[in-house]
Amino acid sequence: MADLRILPDPNQLADAACAYVLASARAAIAARGRFTLALTGGSTPRLLYQKLAQHPELPWANIELCFGDERAVPPDHKDSNAGMARAALTGQPFIPAERVHRMEGELSPSAAAAAYEQTLRQLFPAADGFPSFDLLLLGLGSDGHIASLFPHSPALAETRAWATDNWVDKLGVARITLTYPVLNEAADTLFLVAGADKAWAVAQALEGNAAVEDVPVRGIRPRSGRVTFMVDVPASAQLRQR
Ligand code: 6PG
Repeated sequence: MADLRILPDPNQLADAACAYVLASARAAIAARGRFTLALTGGSTPRLLYQKLAQHPELPWANIELCFGDERAVPPDHKDSNAGMARAALTGQPFIPAERVHRMEGELSPSAAAAAYEQTLRQLFPAADGFPSFDLLLLGLGSDGHIASLFPHSPALAETRAWATDNWVDKLGVARITLTYPVLNEAADTLFLVAGADKAWAVAQALEGNAAVEDVPVRGIRPRSGRVTFMVDVPASAQLRQR
């Protein structure tokens, strides 16, 4: 069962998410000496990343910054998730470059996915099945996609690889994405969703019963982790229980 927080607007959504990430980071580092965070792409998280960039005091040397998905473009391309995160946060001088682990969108998607799995295997050497991020950030597409797991796309069926390439028919592009087994191994998942165009997908995620193939967010069923949805008022408009 997911927790739901409805915030008045995108700025207050980003403030609440920033406080959540800071608290998660401090707790993980106090307990285990490191914090593993999977960043989401898209446009919604930019404000959150800019707010996190206002916290140089955080022990960034103990924070491993990974990505949930990437477009098949180089990091300097306007559509690059790593490029967006770099401009907003990871390019900050107080963040060690060796703590930022981007998916190499400039490679072929299958090569980038294979390379990313090796990167994760080095970051999570003790993983006896799938790596468990301390905190996974996810956005939500208006069609219910998460990361680059789109409706009726091949990667929805991946149960062994940690990362894979995925052909997205509706966009006519290939993507690189973490797979459900990795996403569902996260200790904590935080959704950031803003805008009236997401209201249907939020209602499907929290109150619907559609098949995962049709609404991929319904495939987020953490093995043992917690899920929190932070949504703004317009994105909550179709929820029955608010
Ligand atoms: C991506 C994201 C994707 C995103 C949703 C929402 O690479 O685009 O990982 O899953 O979170 O499409 O995107 P917006 O935040 O731009 O609405």
